[in-house]
Amino acid sequence: MYTRFITTLLALAASLDAHPTRLQPRSTSHQIGYISVDVATLWTNPHKPRPVDAPALTNPANPEEWLHDMTLKQFLNLTTQDRTQSQALYGDLVYILDAKDGWYHIAATGQPTPKNKLGYPGWVPAAQVSLDTGFGALQSSMPFALVDNATSVNIYRDADMSDVFMSVSYDTRLPVIGQTSDAIQVAVPSGGSAYLSTSDASVYSSETAIPYPKGQTLVDAAQRFIGLPYLWGGTSGYSVDCAGLTHTIYHANGILIGRDASAQADSNYTGHGVQGTSVARADLQPGDIIFYATNLSDPQTVYHDAMYAGNGQMIEAYGAGIPVRITAVRFNDDYWGAERFLTG
Ligand SMILES: *[C@@H]1O[C@H](CO)[C@@H](O)[C@H](O)[C@H]1NC(C)=O
Ligand SMILES: *[C@@H]1O[C@H](CO)[C@@H](O)[C@H](O)[C@H]1NC(C)=O
Ligand SMILES: *[C@@H]1O[C@H](CO)[C@@H](O)[C@H](O)[C@H]1NC(C)=O
Ligand SMILES: *[C@@H]1O[C@H](CO)[C@@H](O)[C@H](O)[C@H]1NC(C)=O
Repeated sequence: MYTRFITTLLALAASLDAHPTRLQPRSTSHQIGYISVDVATLWTNPHKPRPVDAPALTNPANPEEWLHDMTLKQFLNLTTQDRTQSQALYGDLVYILDAKDGWYHIAATGQPTPKNKLGYPGWVPAAQVSLDTGFGALQSSMPFALVDNATSVNIYRDADMSDVFMSVSYDTRLPVIGQTSDAIQVAVPSGGSAYLSTSDASVYSSETAIPYPKGQTLVDAAQRFIGLPYLWGGTSGYSVDCAGLTHTIYHANGILIGRDASAQADSNYTGHGVQGTSVARADLQPGDIIFYATNLSDPQTVYHDAMYAGNGQMIEAYGAGIPVRITAVRFNDDYWGAERFLTG
């Protein structure tokens, strides 16, 4: 039965484009790697981590311990000292731009930014990146399981799902190599396979097979993030920054928007999978993204965004020390406008 399922999957994979939809440009000149920890933090340079950041640098990483142990001052210091850039999730394809002293300078795909057309740039410990081409072959040919039903879930060593292997974030995608009624068997970038509960993830043949969301679908997903810590550069189900929240939720629903607030707001920026259209205050709908800027005439000064949740409320990752929250939309002097990325 198991063999028959694999055969079905192989037939399914063969009937699809060999490369599932990728909206960003491909590079042929850079080595490819795959993130091999639940969440890798992209640092501005290898000298930016402090002693308190040790749990974020290892393999396995320990994001919960890291976030738990940091003081408010230490959270704020990540922002003021420009230490962190973004994050990338287990299995994410990254281009290796440079290598130095046990670190890789990478571009993380799936995170459009004017900073680099290949993906979001930053430094990660080389130990957090797998070069396993076998995993890459499965990633480019097999359906994937998308973690979409909680901010983080466990994956297991056994099909009975009693032996926890590690936790993985919302929006993680892993190649599917088998399935029972309760468990999805996925390939993992550290080699071998693991099991996910069918209630924690959905299986799709390609990015375009992800059902097109309604605005309320996005708001429902954002509700699950309420209470998570704010992290400068956070782009995962463990912690987010403002645009990390909106980007991650759209991405898990198959829609690629800019990684940073200024890129999301800039309708002239063409690196997105989809362009936003501007929305008047009176027309705001759930799922729209609201932007704040220091100079309303200059979109490059957009510094914050949030997801409109309906009824005059928004869900936002506001700043260090303030957990993700739902709050009344602030129509203040710095209200820049809103964009809609959903059509129809
Ligand atoms: C930020 O943290 C570093 C390392 O702990 C420390 O040396 C520096 O003084 C801090 N800066 C501020 C502005 O808090
Ligand atoms: C999502 O998780 C909840 C709680 O664990 C479960 O009741 C529900 O069936 C899951 N949804 C899907 C679509 O699997
Ligand atoms: C886009 O470009 C046009 C023409 O250069 C400019 O007027 C407009 O302000 C730009 N919009 C944004 C959001 O940058
Ligand atoms: C705001 O941005 C506009 C357009 O770039 C610029 O002309 C103006 O000088 C800026 N205002 C301030 C106070 O910086």
